[in-house]
Amino acid sequence: MAKEKILVTSALPYVNGPIHLGHLSGAYLPADIYVRYKRLKGDDIIYISGSDEHGVPITISADKENVSPQVIIDRYHKLNYDAFEKFGMSFDNYSRTSLPIHHNTAKEFFLEFYKQGILKEKKTLQFYDEKNKMFLPDRYVEGTCPNCGFEEARSDECENCGALYEPKELKNPKSKISGESPILKETAHWFFPLGKFQQRLENYINEMNEKYGWKENVLQYCRGWFKDGLKDRAVTRDLDWGVKVPLDDAEGKVLYVWFEAVLGYISSTKEYSEKISKPNFWKKYWLDQNTKYIAFIGKDNVVFHCIVFPAMLMAWNDGEKEKYCLPQNVPANEFLNFEGRKFSKSRNWGVDAIDFLKIFPADPLRYTLAANLPENRDTDFQWKEFQAKNNSELAAIFGNFINRTFTFAHKQFKGKVPPKGVLNEMDKEMIKTISEYPQKISGYFERYKIKKGTNEIMNLARAGNKYFNDSEPWITVKTDKEKCSTTINICLQTIYTLAELFEPVLPFSSKKIFGMLNTELTTWEKCGDENLPTGHKLNKAEILFPQIEDKMIQEQIDKLGGGESKTDKNNLISYDDFMKTELKVAEVIEAEKIKKSKKLLKLKVKLGDEVRQVIAGIALSYKPEEMIGKKVVIVANLQPVKIMGEESKGMILAVENEGGNLEVLTASNSVKNGIRVS
Ligand code: MF3
Ligand code: ZN
Repeated sequence: MAKEKILVTSALPYVNGPIHLGHLSGAYLPADIYVRYKRLKGDDIIYISGSDEHGVPITISADKENVSPQVIIDRYHKLNYDAFEKFGMSFDNYSRTSLPIHHNTAKEFFLEFYKQGILKEKKTLQFYDEKNKMFLPDRYVEGTCPNCGFEEARSDECENCGALYEPKELKNPKSKISGESPILKETAHWFFPLGKFQQRLENYINEMNEKYGWKENVLQYCRGWFKDGLKDRAVTRDLDWGVKVPLDDAEGKVLYVWFEAVLGYISSTKEYSEKISKPNFWKKYWLDQNTKYIAFIGKDNVVFHCIVFPAMLMAWNDGEKEKYCLPQNVPANEFLNFEGRKFSKSRNWGVDAIDFLKIFPADPLRYTLAANLPENRDTDFQWKEFQAKNNSELAAIFGNFINRTFTFAHKQFKGKVPPKGVLNEMDKEMIKTISEYPQKISGYFERYKIKKGTNEIMNLARAGNKYFNDSEPWITVKTDKEKCSTTINICLQTIYTLAELFEPVLPFSSKKIFGMLNTELTTWEKCGDENLPTGHKLNKAEILFPQIEDKMIQEQIDKLGGGESKTDKNNLISYDDFMKTELKVAEVIEAEKIKKSKKLLKLKVKLGDEVRQVIAGIALSYKPEEMIGKKVVIVANLQPVKIMGEESKGMILAVENEGGNLEVLTASNSVKNGIRVS
């Protein structure tokens, strides 16, 4: 196959806190495995990322600690950089959006759009904190939702009922900074006309999908956005931390963080070019329509990478200057949860990458995450599973295979690769298996099926072990030394193949194995061949995957706070308290969607003779007609509330399944409606 020119980026993480395992498995590990694999294939590839150092959350953290944002970004940039390094990330460049090279790149894009005349200037009313003399970002304002009465709603949307509204509709607004009521003040912003690009974006995504097969989850998100219709988006903010708007009348305004962060991929590549003293090097990738550009991200970033960023590049390309390549694929992952729940800093639920890597080596973590990537649905990290992956797979299968083979080679064959004799069927089969493996794994990695590929490589180690067992070298060493010699030769060739196939997943261990084999990596295509000549001298074997003891795992579990695993005495309620809650079975007899809300269904339910209306936030998981006839469980004695102008008497119980969809709890048909659950 012809060599490809590939540009790979991983989302630039915000530096307002340390990255955790969820980040690693979303946008970093899969990209790193892909990149390492492509390098072994000999493709021309560059791998780019960096820190996203602007945005409101960083200023919030800085305010809380009473330091400048610079202190926060320096701290977490370094922390994340170190974590990535320990984890074995092989970025060609890891930049920062606070660097001048990035500010200039972002300004250049803004000015290009400004000159083309596509940005619209609009005046809006925004909350303004008079005490602190600043416009308040949406999340700095809290008030009462005009629709449902939720008291902690943001200035533009309500987390509780999903309603969107104008800031002036929010009741009782309070500034989160001063605690005072903010005033509404007029401010001007520049808007990017996303709607203008909708048709071209749809065509682009369809074409890329047809040619290169996009992931279904990614297409789903995009279709959702298209269906709602793309709208103008403000690309500036009233804030003083960020890239200054490069216009005369824009005092106190910066570019919206997402608008400039995506350009960080370009500026990071430019920075790399300067580091290697080839200032135009970045153009070779970015300014060539034939570049295969793959953007790795988590699912929360889809709209920015599949819609906003491509639209910006299209707009640039409409101008006179040299044209940028667009992403050819965006293999976004779903989320990794932690022991059954979302990672949460405030509830001390989860583990930061850097803390993890201070205690355990990177490879077992890389393997555990890779074997369980959230490629098609959310997945879960569990400490016990991490231990099992290390002890029962890496150590007991892969490590053991290497160990017993090396023991034989050193004891029986003077530490040299012994010759092959006459081959029996089993030998031929094993040689064939390893020769087919590189192609087989390519088939997965090329299509971003990193999880399947990883698990399949472990299967080769399983096959190696089985071959070793079935060949019984501990018997043939006494009865038929030539046979034994053949077995060990083939096992050593298999170890070579495994060490190379596993290099993208287990780079540190792979390196050690090549040291033990006393040789070097070859190309991906050749790694299934016979790579170790007879008589080749081997080095000593070392233990690759030490056991992880129960105690070490328990120590980690004990560090977690706020989880269900530890029942906090203060959270216990009495039996009487529980009995105050009336849970009842109710039959759904009518269901319809609520206009203006994506999440809500309006249901009529029957409890015995009584019929009542309940509003339930399940519309993303159930069509109205699917609900009819279901016997659901409701909290029957909840105070009635109004949600989006509709009365709701009671609450339906539901759980989130592994796919992130809600499932309502139901009783079977033989249960009468109105019956109390106890
Ligand atoms: N900082 C964002 C996050 O952590 C990702 C930014 S990706 C970029 O979710 F392309 F905008 F840089
Ligand atoms: Zn609301």
